[in-house]
Amino acid sequence: MDMAMDKSKTARTAFLGWTAAGGPGGVRWLDHAATTPRLACAVAAERAFYERTNANPGRGLHRLGVAATAALEEAREVVRTFAGDRGKTGIIVFVRGTTEALNLVANAAGTEDEIWVGGAEHHSNLLPWFRGGRTVHVIPLTAAGDLDVGALAEGLRTGRGKGRKWVAFAAVSNVMGRLQDVAAICRVARAAGAKTVVDAAQVAFHGALQAEAWGCDFLAFSGHKMGGPMGIGALWGRTEALEELPPLMVGGEMVVDVEEEGCAMELAEVPARLEAGTVNAAGAAGLAAAAQWVAQCPAETHRRVAELAQEAARQLAAIEGVRVLGGAEEGGRRGVRTSLVTFTVDGVHAHDVAQWLDGEGIAVRGGRLCAHPVLARLGVTAATRASFGPVNDESDVAALVAAVRRAQEALR
Ligand SMILES: Cc1ncc(COP(=O)(O)O)c(C=O)c1O
Repeated sequence: MDMAMDKSKTARTAFLGWTAAGGPGGVRWLDHAATTPRLACAVAAERAFYERTNANPGRGLHRLGVAATAALEEAREVVRTFAGDRGKTGIIVFVRGTTEALNLVANAAGTEDEIWVGGAEHHSNLLPWFRGGRTVHVIPLTAAGDLDVGALAEGLRTGRGKGRKWVAFAAVSNVMGRLQDVAAICRVARAAGAKTVVDAAQVAFHGALQAEAWGCDFLAFSGHKMGGPMGIGALWGRTEALEELPPLMVGGEMVVDVEEEGCAMELAEVPARLEAGTVNAAGAAGLAAAAQWVAQCPAETHRRVAELAQEAARQLAAIEGVRVLGGAEEGGRRGVRTSLVTFTVDGVHAHDVAQWLDGEGIAVRGGRLCAHPVLARLGVTAATRASFGPVNDESDVAALVAAVRRAQEALR
């Protein structure tokens, strides 16, 4: 048996509903970018929290309350290390997911601030910055579909914002799928005095979070896109940067003192002040278990996933009438494709492609990918996206490419 195939079969059994032979319903799962299969260890950790402690963290003085608090703080530490913060320069705030994390940060920006967002952002890293009538500048893309760092540097140099500067971008865009030079972008941004916000939703499952090495101020990711539970995610922030954020919500356990007179409240320290209400502690335990699984995955697993995406991109691009978004695989590119490929088929709507592929037992995403301005910039109204993970192997690439050919024949 082919060694690479053997590895993917071993990896499969780590996920709920998967056996060495395949996943739920016999479907080839090429929709990891929307959500990944669930790691059994993450669900077990979530369940163990409810079974063994089941108390509200940070509140109960009884032994189960103390145990729940300890479990939450332990999860926080695991996730901090996973984010690439070994020097304890930052703190994890538990949130529902990347969207909430980015809203929490963008909520701190003022109307006078100068805001730069990447040219290939998911709506989650675009709409929160639009709020309050702010002016948002877009970092242009190179022909290959990568962020143009030189253009950002020039833009920041000549920018006219009167307030603070922010640079927010995806380490890997959910449309382009290419790992950006995050450290270089953060360097340029910080040299101009800007705060940096990295959307890591599409990179967390692929073992590459490096909050400290990248030199960012904030980093956001979701549990469900890395084998963990839905409804839990993390915002990592440098401690001083987090301290400057106003809470997005107010309520229980985020204040030191409250007085009705003058509606006064004294906020607690971070992270509590940014986690109003009961934290999803069971989800946090699940996220921590997923983080440990991903961190322990051999580098070869991540490399193999990238190779599958790259091979799919190459083979799709070779089909006449199929356009892979974001430049060719070879030749003078900065970005490296990590896990996904987005494409269009001339004369066939992306919904029809996705439906055809479903008919052949292949799950992909078809539509506007929660990235309308990005597709408009690329001159398309909708696209199909295939996204890979450790459960996939070469047979999935072959099945995808053959099915796209058949869809093209049948539907155009
Ligand atoms: C790049 C990117 N950012 C943010 C999000 C939003 O993630 P969530 O829905 O988990 O908040 C997504 C989801 O697809 C994404 O791909």
